[in-house]
Amino acid sequence: MMRYFIIPVVILIGIVSTGLSQATSYRETFEKEFMNAPWQIAKGEISACIQCHTSDDMGPEMHEITRQWKESFHAKNNISCHDCHGGAPEDASMSMMHQRGFKGSPKNRDIPEFCGTCHIGILNTYLKSGHGKTFFETGEGPNCVTCHGSHNIQLASMDIINEQLCTQCHTYERAQEMKQALFLVENKLSGVEETLGHLKLLGINIDDHQKVFYRNHAAFRALSHSIDVDSVRLKSGDYIRKLEMIESQINESFEQLKFRKNFFAYLFLIFTGLSVVTFLLAKSYEQK
Ligand code: HEC
Ligand code: HEC
Ligand code: HEC
Ligand code: HEC
Ligand code: HEC
Repeated sequence: MMRYFIIPVVILIGIVSTGLSQATSYRETFEKEFMNAPWQIAKGEISACIQCHTSDDMGPEMHEITRQWKESFHAKNNISCHDCHGGAPEDASMSMMHQRGFKGSPKNRDIPEFCGTCHIGILNTYLKSGHGKTFFETGEGPNCVTCHGSHNIQLASMDIINEQLCTQCHTYERAQEMKQALFLVENKLSGVEETLGHLKLLGINIDDHQKVFYRNHAAFRALSHSIDVDSVRLKSGDYIRKLEMIESQINESFEQLKFRKNFFAYLFLIFTGLSVVTFLLAKSYEQK
C-alpha cells in the first residue's frame, strides 16, 4: 500500500526543495555582491602596525588609539591602520617608510582629503558647504574628525547633531532645524530598512529594492553635510516620496509571498487528496 503514496510524496519533495535551493543561491549572490568589497583583507592577517603599536614599548596614548580603533565601525569593516595611514603592514622593519606609501598622521588641514579618498561624495558636499569653505579660509569650520572622531568612528546618525558638539562655534538653533528635517526621513528610512531585513530573512529576492534603497540612503545622508537647511527640507520631501514608492513595491512582494505560502498549502492538499484517491482506486481494483 505504501507505494501508492510514493509518487505524490516524491513530487512534493521535489517542489519544496526547488523552493529551498532558490533561497540558498540567492544568499550566495547577496554575499558575493555585498560582502566582498575590494578592501576586505584576509581574516586573521597579522598587521605589523597593530603588533608594534600595542607592544610594551609603547606608551598608554598609543595603546588607547588601537583600543579605540578595535571598537570602531571601520574595524568591523576591515579598514585597518594602513588603509588610512598607508605603509606596509606585512613588513615590520619597513612599514612606516615613505617609500612604502606611509603618509603619517595627517595635518589638520589635510584631514578632509585624507578621509575623502574613500568618502568621495561626502568630501565634495563638504567642500562646497559653509563648514568646508570656512575651514579652509579661516580654519574655524569643523572638519570630519571634529564631528566623527578619528579612531573611534561609529555608524553615523542624527545623534551626532547635539548641543554639546554643535554649540562650540554657533547657536544650536540652525543645527536643530537641520535635525528636524533629517528626522522625518530617517524615520522612514529605518522603517523601510527593517522591512527589507524581514524580506531577506524569508529568502525573497530584494536585490533591486536594496540597491535603490542604498542609493537614496547614501545620497540623503551625504546631503546633511551641505548644512543647507532649506535645501535639506526641500529634498526631504523628495526622498520621502521615493521611499514611499519603495515601500509600496515591498508590499507587493509581501503579497507575492502570501500567494506562495498559500500555493504550497494548496499543493499539499492536492497531493494528500491524490494519495487517498490512488489508494482507494488501487483497493477497488484489488477487490475485483
Ligand atoms: C616596529 C614598530 C612599529 C611598527 C611596525 C609601526 N609603527 Fe607606527 N610608530 C611607531 C613608533 C615608535 C611611533 C612614534 C614615534 C614616531 O613618530 O616615529 C609611531 C608613530 C606612528 C604614527 C604617528 C606618526 C606621526 O606623524 O605623528 C602613525 C600614524 C603610525 N605610527 C602608523 C603606523 C602604521 C600605519 C603602521 C603599519 C603600516 C605602523 N605605524 C607600524 C612604531 C611602529
Ligand atoms: C579612518 C582612518 C584611520 C584609521 C583606520 C587609523 N587612523 Fe590613526 N589617525 C587618523 C587621523 C585622521 C589622525 C589625525 C587626527 C587625530 O590625531 O585625531 C590619526 C592619527 C594617528 C596617530 C598620531 C596621533 C597623535 O596624537 O599624534 C597615530 C600614532 C595613529 N593615528 C595610529 C594609528 C594606528 C596604530 C591605527 C590602527 C590601529 C590607526 N591609526 C588607524 C585616522 C586613522
Ligand atoms: C580606506 C578607505 C576609508 C578611509 C580612508 C576612511 N573611511 Fe570611513 N568608511 C570606510 C568604509 C569601507 C566604511 C564602512 C562601509 C560604509 O559605510 O561605506 C566606512 C564607514 C564610515 C562611517 C560610518 C558610515 C555609516 O554608514 O554610518 C563614518 C562616519 C566614516 N567612515 C567616517 C570616516 C572619517 C571621518 C574618515 C577619516 C578620518 C574616514 N571615514 C576614512 C572606508 C574609509
Ligand atoms: C558638522 C559635523 C560633521 C562634519 C564636519 C562631517 N560630518 Fe559626516 N556626518 C555628520 C552627521 C550628523 C551625519 C549623519 C547624517 C544622517 O544620519 O542623516 C554624518 C554622516 C556621515 C557618514 C555616513 C553617511 C552614509 O552615507 O551613510 C559618513 C561616511 C561621513 N559622515 C563622513 C564624513 C567625512 C568624510 C567628513 C569630512 C569630509 C564628514 N563626515 C564631516 C556630521 C558631520
Ligand atoms: C568648529 C566650529 C563649528 C562646529 C563644531 C559646528 N559648526 Fe556649524 N558652522 C560653523 C561656521 C563657522 C558656520 C558659518 C559658515 C558660513 O558662513 O556659511 C557654520 C554654519 C552652520 C550652519 C548654517 C547656518 C546658516 O545660517 O545657514 C548650520 C546648519 C550648521 N553650521 C550646523 C552645524 C551642526 C549641525 C553642527 C554639529 C553637528 C555644527 N554646525 C558644528 C562652525 C561650526
